[in-house]
Amino acid sequence: MEIIKDVKAMKAYVKAIKTKGETICLVPTMGYLHEGHLDLMRMGRPLADHLIISIFVNPTQFGAGEDLDKYPRDLPRDTRLAESVGVDCIFNPEAADMYPQGYATYVNVEGITEGLCGASRPGHFRGVTTVVAKLFNIIEPDISVFGEKDYQQLAVIRRMVEDLDMNVKILAHGTVREEDGLAMSSRNKYLNPEERKNALVLNRSLKFAQDRVQSGERNAAAIKSEVEKMISSTPGCTIDYVEIVDPDLLHPLDTLETRAVMALAVRVGKTRLIDNITLTA
Ligand code: PAJ
Repeated sequence: MEIIKDVKAMKAYVKAIKTKGETICLVPTMGYLHEGHLDLMRMGRPLADHLIISIFVNPTQFGAGEDLDKYPRDLPRDTRLAESVGVDCIFNPEAADMYPQGYATYVNVEGITEGLCGASRPGHFRGVTTVVAKLFNIIEPDISVFGEKDYQQLAVIRRMVEDLDMNVKILAHGTVREEDGLAMSSRNKYLNPEERKNALVLNRSLKFAQDRVQSGERNAAAIKSEVEKMISSTPGCTIDYVEIVDPDLLHPLDTLETRAVMALAVRVGKTRLIDNITLTA
């Protein structure tokens, strides 16, 4: 397995693949890999000749006062894990190589970036789409796999690819969870044992919402207010948002008709966690 740190070297590696007419699948990550990331790689492995992952803690998607500096990093461990699922190459650039002095170009998807995480993390999706567009230009993947755990991110990437006529097929992988239901996340490392237990309220409240829909509830406000009560009565948990939205356009829904997504962002202690579920009426 190769580890490439340099943008120019990465482009040369890609050019050699393209010259042979072979295909590339890319799984972009910020590292500190867990089973969720590895499942995306296992899904991508058989779909192309070359499986490339990126590990880059992208500074442009972090706001002031967010966890850019303390975001967990462990390249030796990530390297072993990536190798174990058949990754051919890790692209691990430096921020100064991705955003050299004088850097001035950003990709911004409008509309669907405004609600949910976009409302509480201004500029976040602009950073995500910018770095993903750059990764697509450097690595020229035929396929790229993203997780539904970051539901809005997936929708935003799909929008960007369609709007900018990018030649890459976006595939989605379902949310991978710990045995007790907590969605896997590199940020779970921040939770102390008490917070780890309290964090289960995210998955519990999503399942509760699903049960309410299955028993016939169609009023989004009613479900939201019950879920809000569950979360705010859990020690150490503060709601960032609880929303029921259209699965494609992400605008809030009043009534559940066919399909909807319930998305949550909750602060457990100082750690902000997100999760979502598709609700089928
Ligand atoms: P990161 O949080 O490292 O996630 C990388 C990919 O793994 C994303 O597509 C994310 O949705 C997926 N993922 C994370 N946890 C998952 C889980 N429990 N189940 C399924 N998939 C999961 O998302 C990012 O990095 C960045 O924003 C990035 C796209 C790399 C741009 O910097």
